[in-house]
Amino acid sequence: MIDLHCHLLPGIDDGPETLADALAMARLAVGNGITEAHVTPHLHVGRWDNDLAGIKKAVEAYRGELAAAAIPLKLGFGAEVRLAYEVLPLIEAGRVPFLGKWDGLDVLLLEMPHGHVPVGSDKFVGWLMNRGIRPMIAHPERNKEIMRDSAKLAPFVLAGCLVQLTAGAVAGEFGDECEARAIEFLANGWVTVLASDAHDVDTRPPSMTPGLEVARSILGSEAAQALVEGNPRRIVYGT
Ligand SMILES: [Fe+2]
Repeated sequence: MIDLHCHLLPGIDDGPETLADALAMARLAVGNGITEAHVTPHLHVGRWDNDLAGIKKAVEAYRGELAAAAIPLKLGFGAEVRLAYEVLPLIEAGRVPFLGKWDGLDVLLLEMPHGHVPVGSDKFVGWLMNRGIRPMIAHPERNKEIMRDSAKLAPFVLAGCLVQLTAGAVAGEFGDECEARAIEFLANGWVTVLASDAHDVDTRPPSMTPGLEVARSILGSEAAQALVEGNPRRIVYGT
């Protein structure tokens, strides 16, 4: 499986604090059937001031540590970009990493605030699309406003956004409401990717199998597998 949203780099955001924890997470990912992880550190202006150059450097260092520890986890990267106007100059300056491409447009993992869908989000998405950037909405099933009214996600899908669900949310690990929304979005055919959004070894580990099993029961085996393999591969490698 290919995990397109996870926090494995040590000391760069609210993921693992130490290299030892980061390596433990990588071992766990491999043990859980994840062959390839694309780390997505938070890029939230004023809170987590990461950018392409810093993330790239941290990825190279971590890749070296994985090799030294003989952990067979292939590593790529993007960023989990918080929807905020302050990030637009960084995007224009080419300082924000993309996960790959989908139908010719660069894929940006875009996170809304947890409590609501900001006014002007449609304009924000339009601004990106006009610049050849296709947002992939990170875990909308965990957004409070979308949890209350699932129709709030529809305009993003109609605008051409991709959708990433947290695998654990699909499996009920984030509560009943998140689970219900996640299942609804799967049934709607709105979901592109399941990802772990792993942050640590214990409470939010790199694991996708329980969510994948639920997706299988809704979509069938082949379509569910595409969410953890075919679609991530298409985004990263275009094949
Ligand atoms: Fe995340």
